[in-house]
Amino acid sequence: MSTSYRELGGKIPLTMVVIRPVRLFDIPDVMRIERASFREEYPRGVFLTFLESNPDTFLVAEYNGRVIGYVMAYLRPDLEGHIMSIAVDPDYRGMGIGSTLLSEVIERLIKKGARYIGLEVRVSNLGAIALYERFGFRKIKRIIGYYADGEDAYYMLLPADEWGGRN
Ligand SMILES: CC(C)(COP(=O)(O)OP(=O)(O)OC[C@H]1O[C@@H](n2cnc3c(N)ncnc32)[C@H](O)[C@@H]1OP(=O)(O)O)[C@@H](O)C(=O)NCCC(=O)NCCS
Repeated sequence: MSTSYRELGGKIPLTMVVIRPVRLFDIPDVMRIERASFREEYPRGVFLTFLESNPDTFLVAEYNGRVIGYVMAYLRPDLEGHIMSIAVDPDYRGMGIGSTLLSEVIERLIKKGARYIGLEVRVSNLGAIALYERFGFRKIKRIIGYYADGEDAYYMLLPADEWGGRN
């Protein structure tokens, strides 16, 4: 049996975390992490379509053969690299895995030609906002009632020429 995060006393070495493009067989794990992370869930078909259309910017973090996080992003025709979703298994948060996923997908989007990286985040999601601000994202506008439950979103942007790698 593999060593679990708890057995390591709450820390896992990031060098043992592999970031790689998602595969079809990862989708149930991605959906498990999504269910544990968000109030609204995408239907399975959204993940399958995303995997087909954006295979190199739909990434998972794997530790000891277990998927513990994912990020979904795509390059829009206006050259904004858009982060659609990012989440880490609750048992593995606060260990740098979200930052590692975000950093890798930003690099990939910029290589594909992104001039900006953009995303929406719930105004109440202070943890995620702190993460994005640490990466250089700025709040551009507040989108009223963006989410199905009525909560507002911040639209945040990071210009590609301000990306100097992970802080
Ligand atoms: C947001 C999320 C992906 C971050 O993943 P993570 O692996 O915990 O992130 P990291 O360990 O790389 O944290 C990096 C930084 O983010 C910030 N951060 C992350 N979670 C935080 C929290 N709960 N409170 C305050 N700051 C937080 C901190 O600045 C942290 O740096 P520090 O550890 O030096 O203080 C994860 O918390 C998650 O899955 N949340 C639920 C889903 C979600 O909200 N996704 C974002 C939707 S827009």
